[in-house]
Amino acid sequence: MPPYPPQGDPVADPRGSFPTSDPPVANPKESAGRKAAELVQDGMTVGLGTGSTVYFTLLRLAERIESEGLSMRGVPTSEDTAQKARALGIPLASLEDVQTIDLTIDGADEIDGQFCLTKGGGGALLREKVVAYISKREAIVVGRDKVVERLGTIFPLPVEIVPFARPMVMRAISGLGAEAKLRTLDSGEPYHTDNGNEILDCAFPDGISDPATLEAELDRIPGVVESGLFVGLAQICFVGEEDGSCTVLEL
Ligand code: 5RP
Repeated sequence: MPPYPPQGDPVADPRGSFPTSDPPVANPKESAGRKAAELVQDGMTVGLGTGSTVYFTLLRLAERIESEGLSMRGVPTSEDTAQKARALGIPLASLEDVQTIDLTIDGADEIDGQFCLTKGGGGALLREKVVAYISKREAIVVGRDKVVERLGTIFPLPVEIVPFARPMVMRAISGLGAEAKLRTLDSGEPYHTDNGNEILDCAFPDGISDPATLEAELDRIPGVVESGLFVGLAQICFVGEEDGSCTVLEL
């Protein structure tokens, strides 16, 4: 008789857990990620965000391609998403192939009441912002714990920078009132994005009171490639709840 719970590669289950005799535990990321995939219609070009919540969107899209014959192409926002989408059989296009994107579905680290976001926990903020910029509609998928009154209160703000400018950029960001910390790997080496850049995780002691102004101030610092502040880019948000339901919010 096979062992129970099944012994296997935990990566096969994105939640990293196996069923037990207890009732299944609802996963807010799963309900949000899967529900948002229902927005995709035949013939759409779809921006595919990055992260563990969007992974459930990819799973649902792959199911729909298989069961309904859904015809779509995805534009991935990271190498990680491209690899996962390919493995699931989702057809892909690159940014060079498209001028606009019908709909993008992406995760976020935090979202406030005006749908301003912090992003970049997974390091993909630059491509995510480029894809959001050319998208006609941006849908965000999050668990309820990511919905905040004020950005910057549960996660530091990721800022992608050019490595050689790091000391100067860190000083400039301190001047904006934040403590900037270089993102590193377990080895202590700097983490590098898909674009070969570094990330500074910037903690603002009182959070971010004015996201639009801060975004502009960060963009003015030479050596900053892009910040993880997304202002005015998202229109719809799927919030996964603890009971397994999903609340849909629209601006
Ligand atoms: C990657 C991101 C992700 O969308 C964000 O970190 C959310 O990830 P997850 O869904 O795994 O919580 O911005 O750059």
